[in-house]
Amino acid sequence: MIQRTFYLLSILLITISCNSSFSEKEKEEYRVKGKEIAEASFLALSTQLTEQMKAGGPAQAIPFCNQKAMPITNELSDKFKATIKRTSNNLRNPDNAPSKRESEILADFQKMKMDGKQLSPIVELDANNKKHFYAPIILKANCLVCHGKLNETVNIKTDSIIKSLYPNDKATGYAEGDLRGIWSITFKNK
Ligand code: HEC
Repeated sequence: MIQRTFYLLSILLITISCNSSFSEKEKEEYRVKGKEIAEASFLALSTQLTEQMKAGGPAQAIPFCNQKAMPITNELSDKFKATIKRTSNNLRNPDNAPSKRESEILADFQKMKMDGKQLSPIVELDANNKKHFYAPIILKANCLVCHGKLNETVNIKTDSIIKSLYPNDKATGYAEGDLRGIWSITFKNK
């Protein structure tokens, strides 16, 4: 009798744990959603950035990013019912600081990149059953006016504007193709 109860209990437990896990089908669904959100966010930020750069160069675009990057991603967070964040292990804005899990993923991506491996987005469930999407952010040539090397792509004037707004800036010295950070998207539970 005891054995039988035990047997039934373990079946019940297995069923429950399987139900709360993340099926491959669901993972794929969130991978697609995550990519869509990251692309929309990138587009929103880069469209506005390009406009500001055309209108007034880094002197106008940097203060614009300083004031508008967060509100732009927050607005999209509401639209997509997900928290949208950009983070890095070489921060410019301290408000974008990584969580423990984000730091681990940044380190993993960095290592994979150094080993010459292909980076692809990660979808996972956390201990609170929240679904997360993480994807690499790779620097393009046009990012280097504000994230590249001083006196190569970043001029003195740009550097001083960055330093005045972000005295602890660590986000320069990069080259095209470098890993700049990650998108971290947390889906709100339905
Ligand atoms: C005109 C200057 C400028 C250009 C060009 C620029 N950035 Fe930035 N970047 C900034 C500023 C300023 C911030 C801080 C924004 C904020 O306060 O959130 C920032 C922040 C970031 C962050 C968030 C992490 C952190 O360190 O705070 C990422 C990721 C990032 N930039 C990637 C890029 C990529 C990729 C490109 C090219 C597609 C790019 N940037 C082009 C100025 C620039």
